[in-house]
Amino acid sequence: MAGQGMVIEVARGKTLLEAALAQGVGFPHDCKVGTCGTCRYRLDDGKISELTSSAMGLSQEQFQAGYRLACQTLPRTDLTITLDTALERTHPVVEVGGRVASQAHLTHDIVELRVDLDEPIRFQPGQYAELLIDGVAAARSYSFANPPHASNASVYFHVRLVPGGQFTGWLFAASRLGQAVTVRGPYGQFGLKPGAAPIVCIAGGSGLAPIKCMLEGASPEARRRPVVVLFGARTERDIYGLDAFEALRNAWEADLTFTPILSAEPAESSWTGRRGLVTDYIQTIPDIDHAQAYLCGPPPMVDAAESALLKAGLTPDRIFADRFFDKSQAAAA
Ligand code: FES
Repeated sequence: MAGQGMVIEVARGKTLLEAALAQGVGFPHDCKVGTCGTCRYRLDDGKISELTSSAMGLSQEQFQAGYRLACQTLPRTDLTITLDTALERTHPVVEVGGRVASQAHLTHDIVELRVDLDEPIRFQPGQYAELLIDGVAAARSYSFANPPHASNASVYFHVRLVPGGQFTGWLFAASRLGQAVTVRGPYGQFGLKPGAAPIVCIAGGSGLAPIKCMLEGASPEARRRPVVVLFGARTERDIYGLDAFEALRNAWEADLTFTPILSAEPAESSWTGRRGLVTDYIQTIPDIDHAQAYLCGPPPMVDAAESALLKAGLTPDRIFADRFFDKSQAAAA
C-alpha cells in the first residue's frame, strides 16, 4: 500500500476488502455491495478483475482518475494502491457460532434478537455483523445493539421485519429459540469519535441500535459531552428504546435528551410529542454548528439529515453516517 507500507495478502477468490478486514486492517467500507463508494482506493499498479464494475459506485471523475472499489476487487497480480485516508488497525473479522437465546418484540415490527456465542467476539460499539443461518437466506447485516461485555458472550441485534424479506419473514414466523446462528464480523467504521464537541444522533427505525450501543459503550470522558438524540418513527407504535435511553440519561454526566419525532401519527391521536420529520428539528438543536453528528437508518433519511446538517453549518468531517442498505436499496442504487 503506497505511502503506508502495509501489505495485505489476498487469497484467490477473496476480494481486497474481505482480505483486509480478515487481517484486522480497518479498510474504509460500508455497504460491501459496490454502491456506496466508501471502500474506494486508487490503483497505482497491477491488474484486477471486478465482481461488478467499480463505475457503479464511483463518480465518473473518480473512475477516470483510477479509483476502484475494494469490495468488488479480485486482484489478478500484486497491486500497489493508495487510499485517501490513513488506515487503522481494527478487530479482525471472525466467524463465531452461537444459538438464538431470546427473541423479544420491541415494536410490532422490530425484534431484539439475543445470540449466545460459543466465544466472545470483539468489536467497537457502532459496528455491525453478518448473521448466517443455514438454509434460510444469504447473510444479513445487523448492528450490534449492546456494547461488548468482557464477562459474557451474548450479542444483541434489532431486526426489523422487511416485507417480503426471506430472513426476517422466517424469523418473525415463529419462535427460533435454540436455532444455530453464525455471527461474522465485526464490520463498519461507525462509532463515537474523540473530541469534546456536543453529540447529535439522528436515527430512524432500527437505526437506533448502533446509536444506543455507541452511547452505552461510551468512555467516562465522552459522558461529559452533551447529547441530543432525535429518533424518527412513523407512528407511536414504532417508538422503542425509551427505557434504555432513560437509563442512559441517568448515567450520563452531561445533558442527554431523547426525542421521538413521528411522521405519520394520525392528527386525532393523543400523541403530544413532536411531529414531522427529524430534519425539521435540526436547526433547533443548541450549538448545532459545533456538534459531531451521527446518523443511522434508511439511506433517504440519512441523506436528508446530512443535507440539513450541512445547511446548519456542520462541515462534512463532523458528520458520520451508517446507512442501512438492504438488497432492494442496493438494487435501486
Ligand atoms: Fe464497497 Fe460500499 S463498501 S462500495
